[in-house]
Amino acid sequence: MRISVIGCGYLGAVHASAMAELGHEVVGIDVDEAKITALSEGRTPFFEPGLPEVLTSAMASGRLRFSTNIADAAGAEVHFVAVGTPQKKGSHAADLTYVNAAVEALLPHLNVGDLIVGKSTVPVGTAARLAAVIEASGSGATLAWNPEFLREGFAVQDTIAPDRLVYGVPEGLAGDRAVAQLNEVYASAIDTQTPLVVTDYATAELVKVAANAFLATKISFINAMAEIAEVSGADVTQLADAIGYDTRIGRRFLNAGVGFGGGCLPKDIRAFTARAEELGRGESVAFLKEVDAINLRRRQRVVDLTVSALGRPVYNAKVAVLGLSFKPHSDDVRDSPALDVAVQLRGLGADVVATDPQAIENSRSRHPQITYSTNIEETLRGADAVVLVTEWPEFKSIDPSWAAELVTTRTIVDGRNTLDAAAWRAAGWTYYGLGRP
Ligand code: UDX
Repeated sequence: MRISVIGCGYLGAVHASAMAELGHEVVGIDVDEAKITALSEGRTPFFEPGLPEVLTSAMASGRLRFSTNIADAAGAEVHFVAVGTPQKKGSHAADLTYVNAAVEALLPHLNVGDLIVGKSTVPVGTAARLAAVIEASGSGATLAWNPEFLREGFAVQDTIAPDRLVYGVPEGLAGDRAVAQLNEVYASAIDTQTPLVVTDYATAELVKVAANAFLATKISFINAMAEIAEVSGADVTQLADAIGYDTRIGRRFLNAGVGFGGGCLPKDIRAFTARAEELGRGESVAFLKEVDAINLRRRQRVVDLTVSALGRPVYNAKVAVLGLSFKPHSDDVRDSPALDVAVQLRGLGADVVATDPQAIENSRSRHPQITYSTNIEETLRGADAVVLVTEWPEFKSIDPSWAAELVTTRTIVDGRNTLDAAAWRAAGWTYYGLGRP
């Protein structure tokens, strides 16, 4: 099938490469020339495990090309819109400028029977509005909404073999045809009995934000329990294990720590709140403000814990920060709790040295005031305190006895509750977790 993918950022670049890998003929389109040049040369503009291999093999097959010219979308039957919907400046709402512009730009290049497929995360109601725009254009194209649920670090796998498919389509024949076209796009997933939900636009849009709101709530729930554990002497990690054995609850996404970040969860819960307020139902998701507040308090908690654990004035104290990306196996520092903690400690006058396997360049361009090192040993040397804020395997496997010889003071704040507290204590460290003794 001939496919175009409009927007070659994180989502679009992965989607275009994965669709070509599945056998489709794909053109990826973006206005950013540097991005298109990199992708055309087989280079990924961001770190994502497995993507370079899929991109290279898809390019070699001749089924994948990239362009800055939207006219190159002409001739494709299915057009995915995968542009960003960032948080609006000065507001919690989503900025739909790029989605609107992508659809407008596509209109002159559509043929009768083409399918436009929205993948971007949008406020409920957007698809119905865009469908009217497409209808009014007289292009004869149909709109479907097909949210993605890919996780950074697993994006290729999540795209090639998703855990479910959701199609939001119009009623009637146009909807039936859209379902048939999407089934052809996702033939390999359909063949392997991937659960499929065919629904209306509003439900499809809401599925995505509801899923992210639920995940964010689950994390903030356990972090709220960590706050209670901190004042009662309980251990939140054992509490999570114990409640997680209940299959109705489940253990996943119950890791207490410095909280969630990234390009999706924080902005999506804020945009959801803003949209619900617009619809006159703000109270229905008012709890998401609490979810956000709990989440942000955990960053402050890590900063406060570090400052009080220092045992000396924070000014000029050397603090080694392990981790900058919002989660391991990613170079993404958007709304990263780890980078935020490093920046806050620097703001208090600490001499912060931070390391991360992938996220140093992205961090440095945003916050040049921090000292970065690519070397764990150099980062730890002479530290008055060590703070672990992203649970990269490289940090989890640090030998506490080896690290003890490098630092000035054996103080560690484990912002992800990921280290073996007993082993670190046995090596002479004062260990602080979050919500555990
Ligand atoms: C998320 C959703 O999981 C995905 O389905 C959606 O498509 C996009 O948003 P992602 O942003 O890649 O994916 O990250 P995710 O793995 O969900 O983690 C989000 C944040 O939560 C990270 O900062 C992570 O460290 C944090 N987290 C996760 C916790 O603090 N505790 C947990 O138990 C799990």
